[in-house]
Amino acid sequence: MRQYIIAGNWKMNKTVSESVQLASDIVAAVKDVKKTEVVIAPTYLAAAKVADVIKGSNVKLAIQDIHWKDQGAFTGKVSVDMVKEIGADYIIIGHSEQRQYFHETDETVNLKVKKTLAAGIKVIICIGETLEQRETGVLKEVLGLQIKGALAGVSAEDADKNVVLAYEPVWAIGTGKTATDEQAEEVHAYIRSLIKEIYGEKIAEDMRIQYGGSMKGANAAGLLAQKDIDGGLIGGAGLKADTFKAIIDAAE
Ligand code: G3H
Repeated sequence: MRQYIIAGNWKMNKTVSESVQLASDIVAAVKDVKKTEVVIAPTYLAAAKVADVIKGSNVKLAIQDIHWKDQGAFTGKVSVDMVKEIGADYIIIGHSEQRQYFHETDETVNLKVKKTLAAGIKVIICIGETLEQRETGVLKEVLGLQIKGALAGVSAEDADKNVVLAYEPVWAIGTGKTATDEQAEEVHAYIRSLIKEIYGEKIAEDMRIQYGGSMKGANAAGLLAQKDIDGGLIGGAGLKADTFKAIIDAAE
């Protein structure tokens, strides 16, 4: 049985004080949540304070990205040691916004994934196709390259315990357009079959695959009822405790 994982990616939203407020609202809202793993990903600037707010609660901390180098002249970036010190549980890697606007490639995703896992932190690896890729019939090829690229050199043990995948069709992110339950399930099942090819049946069955893209309380139950959908990576609906909680309720 795979545990649902609902993660709120706050992207470039919320000041530090707003982040602290939202984190404490979420801690209060989910205090009785037992079955679902709840994760929040504030901005770098707020991460240390949010870590203090969620200490001792059932909410975990994710960081939105790292650089793969240990340190040095990389203006604007943070290293894995910096996020490890504040107690990050997860790092989100390869988000489509990183791929689209900041030159993230399957290679840099792989470097970041290996750096994160070596530090003992879990990864949420984002994959997904653009509308053009879907319409031109290269969806499977794109996902195959993204997955194989991201996981190159990742051990079976890490794949089994420390990797979560997030399938986000780019055309569904922030647009209000969600993939239908069937469209999403078809792709999730395909992703699981690729994991089976790489790591075998057991790891494929264990690995959690989140859906992301305009997920909200109203559509979460249908998506989460699908056999191969194990949670959500939530943008807009994660920015308020009640709308975030509505999705968690659907998972519980
Ligand atoms: O990381 C989260 C996703 O990009 C989904 O964002 O829920 O605003 O569509 P959204």
